[in-house]
Amino acid sequence: MIRFDILSVFPEMFASPCGSSLLKKALDKGLIDIRLHDIREQALDKHRMTDDAPYGGGGGMVMKVEPIERTLRSISVPDEETPIILLTPQGERFCQKMAEELAGHRQLVMICGHYEGVDERVRTKLVNREISIGDYVLTGGELSAMVVVDAVSRLVPGVLGNSESAGEDTFSMGLLEYPHYTRPAEYNGWKVPEVLLSGNHREINDWRRRESLLRTRKRRPDLLRDFPLTEKEKSWLADEAEP
Ligand SMILES: C[S@@+](CC[C@H](N)C(=O)[O-])C[C@H]1O[C@@H](n2cnc3c(N)ncnc32)[C@H](O)[C@@H]1O
Repeated sequence: MIRFDILSVFPEMFASPCGSSLLKKALDKGLIDIRLHDIREQALDKHRMTDDAPYGGGGGMVMKVEPIERTLRSISVPDEETPIILLTPQGERFCQKMAEELAGHRQLVMICGHYEGVDERVRTKLVNREISIGDYVLTGGELSAMVVVDAVSRLVPGVLGNSESAGEDTFSMGLLEYPHYTRPAEYNGWKVPEVLLSGNHREINDWRRRESLLRTRKRRPDLLRDFPLTEKEKSWLADEAEP
């Protein structure tokens, strides 16, 4: 069970992704807990302002530190190791390894920025982690927080069904995953590779491993650079001309 506390000025944005598919099932089963905190509720001035003009001038608005700090204070966390995360394009790049590491915590707190971002004192005084979901700029941190919730939740035991497994996923093994096929065996003359219909599990495993390696070399050669290959795997790669 992992608990996510998400601070946002648009908590309603989470309704749809949390209300369907595996995340909904995980919530219903109590495997994950998502607590949304509306930062606006901690804006105590008459107009409930959560943002203000930047000191020094310039366009855009900046999210104020006080409502964020007050919201954080209202959330109890188990210990000082609990990640208090600011979602920001300037943060450490999110990846599967980070998702695995975060899934080892009991609770994650995430702050979603908007506009020009948050007052710098949120970054320097209130959080212990900054995460970016990629080298592009979104309008707000809600989608970023959902990406983290989704990637971390599917690693929580019980969230994926028995037949599914995160173990062989792309990146989990350090490689891109092999291709998948399902019925029918032939459609429009497009055939499923014979070996997958053979019932020979050793051959199927070899085929999958080989496809995974060839695909990784073609699309993400950087992943193969430090990957420990067996002699058999080296020969598969040598036998197949580089694209
Ligand atoms: C328009 S962005 C602010 C960008 C900021 N002015 C900058 O240049 O770094 C508004 C908010 O969206 C979220 N955001 C945007 N892109 C993101 C990304 N790649 N990863 C994580 N959060 C992001 C952050 O919470 C950010 O505070």
